[in-house]
Amino acid sequence: MSGVKLEKIVKAYGRLEVVHGIDLEVKEKEFVVLVGPSGCGKSTTLRMIAGLEEISAGDISIDGRVVNRVAPKDRDVAMVFQNYALYPHLSVFENIAFGLRIRKESKGHIEKTVKEASDILGLTPYLDRKPAELSGGQRQRVAMGRAIVRRPKVFLFDEPLSNLDAKLRTQMRAEIKQLHRRLGATSVYVTHDQVEAMTLADRIVVMNDGNIEQIGSPMELFMNPANTFVAGFIGSPPMNQLQGNIEKVSSGLQVRINDTVIDLPNNTNVEDGQSVVLGIRPEHISLSNNEGTSAMSISLNLVETLGSEALLHAKFGEQDMIVKAETNGQIDHLSEISTVYAPTDLVKVFDAKSGLVLSEPFSQGSNT
Ligand SMILES: Nc1ncnc2c1ncn2[C@@H]1O[C@H](COP(=O)(O)OP(=O)(O)OP(=O)(O)O)[C@@H](O)[C@H]1O
Ligand SMILES: [Mg+2]
Repeated sequence: MSGVKLEKIVKAYGRLEVVHGIDLEVKEKEFVVLVGPSGCGKSTTLRMIAGLEEISAGDISIDGRVVNRVAPKDRDVAMVFQNYALYPHLSVFENIAFGLRIRKESKGHIEKTVKEASDILGLTPYLDRKPAELSGGQRQRVAMGRAIVRRPKVFLFDEPLSNLDAKLRTQMRAEIKQLHRRLGATSVYVTHDQVEAMTLADRIVVMNDGNIEQIGSPMELFMNPANTFVAGFIGSPPMNQLQGNIEKVSSGLQVRINDTVIDLPNNTNVEDGQSVVLGIRPEHISLSNNEGTSAMSISLNLVETLGSEALLHAKFGEQDMIVKAETNGQIDHLSEISTVYAPTDLVKVFDAKSGLVLSEPFSQGSNT
């Protein structure tokens, strides 16, 4: 097993540059997830690692060796796609064994390796079936079996779960995580689903328009987004972002939004009068007037009930805002709410122009 290193990687199709010189180091055994909106360059980046796409500039190394000109089959990587593309006329066993047969492995070795993989993946009862006789999740597992038996240095996944229904996706997500724990294989996983990224990743790489916006552990990105893009991408629902202006007063720092002032932590790096974006996570807003909070008057548009939680869709002045509230089994009182409270310690401030964070990061440890 071994790591992957991307140095100043550029990809251009003719004159159109779609990846703009990204740097990324995936450590040995690490599970790194590339996440970002459609078209931001995730698949292109993954395909460059696999060797399926030529790189326009920069270096890619696997296990310390530059592989820019190494053919895909000689890179020792295995890729699992969204369309698992199984051979319909072959049994599950033969589908998993396919790569080993091509490599002319011995019969004994193939039997043993396929059996191990099918045990790990829960496919042993289905080895004689054809793909058409399997569920979507089982087919996806066969595709993973094909990758596992090759014992690659690096696993590459491109949205492997996006063809599955919601329930199966959650189940397979947990299975992939357990599989990674068992095999400890270096993995790069592409998704546009931030929940998948949060639950699977050791580290998340947030991409946007061919650039990397931020790299960090799921909790780092959740608690300390580097900019408004990451704040608006990570979290479900994402962080509320409200336009306002800084006011320095004798008692400390505040942000004014229309007629409301909201207290800020003192270690926020801002100028008096500066235009900022106030970031407040929906789950950090409280419904009760606790110490260290600032009141915000809202007008409620909609209460969305999720069961243990409810989402309050509201307007704060002209700006949209979402509050996540515990229901404790009751929702009637939620439709009466007209004031919510922003916790001073947990709000974030971003520069309105650059979008960059101005707040000091929360220290890690207690939050991870
Ligand atoms: N062969 C190609 N020729 C020209 N442009 C391409 C080609 N392949 C991809 N692109 C462009 O490169 C950009 C990145 O594409 P890519 O497939 O990497 O996006 P993605 O992040 O994987 O998106 P999605 O979530 O939709 O899969 C897109 O703007 C796409 O239109
Ligand atoms: Mg893609």
